[in-house]
Amino acid sequence: MIKVLFVCLGNICRSPMAEFVFKQMVKERNLQDSFYISSAATSDEAAGCNIHRGTREKLRKEGVEFSDHFARKMTPEDYKAYDYILVMEQKNLRDIMGIIGKDSEKKVFCLLDFCGGGDIADPWYTGNFDDTYSDILKGCEAFLKAAVEKHELV
Ligand code: 4NP
Repeated sequence: MIKVLFVCLGNICRSPMAEFVFKQMVKERNLQDSFYISSAATSDEAAGCNIHRGTREKLRKEGVEFSDHFARKMTPEDYKAYDYILVMEQKNLRDIMGIIGKDSEKKVFCLLDFCGGGDIADPWYTGNFDDTYSDILKGCEAFLKAAVEKHELV
């Protein structure tokens, strides 16, 4: 079982979007037994909140299933428990180091590192859920391809 934790600042816009996009992608490939997928925040800003309405509307529009969600901050235990910690932007990397100290097992990656690099904009500030979704889709596809190859899943 490959354990994947998507992480962003608030855990209500980008990381739950990535969580449910990736869950659907994995299900469509019949790989759901190979992955455990969740998401978390680097802050307590939105702790306990459900997915942002903009993310829910975009997921619905794209036909991506999702369930109720309670935003939570990542813990040092998560670092031990997960195999891949996939963040949205450079700032998340810096904030995660404040939680875990050091990425001693080299588990932390920016999602877009799997397809050329870059940051995924925060729609909490931009209001643009379409661009964020496109980046997340691209990143999740590239990560899945890399994981399938590395772990010889097919
Ligand atoms: P996210 O967006 O990191 O993509 O979930 C944010 C959501 C909430 C806040 C910041 C960013 N906030 O400060 O409450």
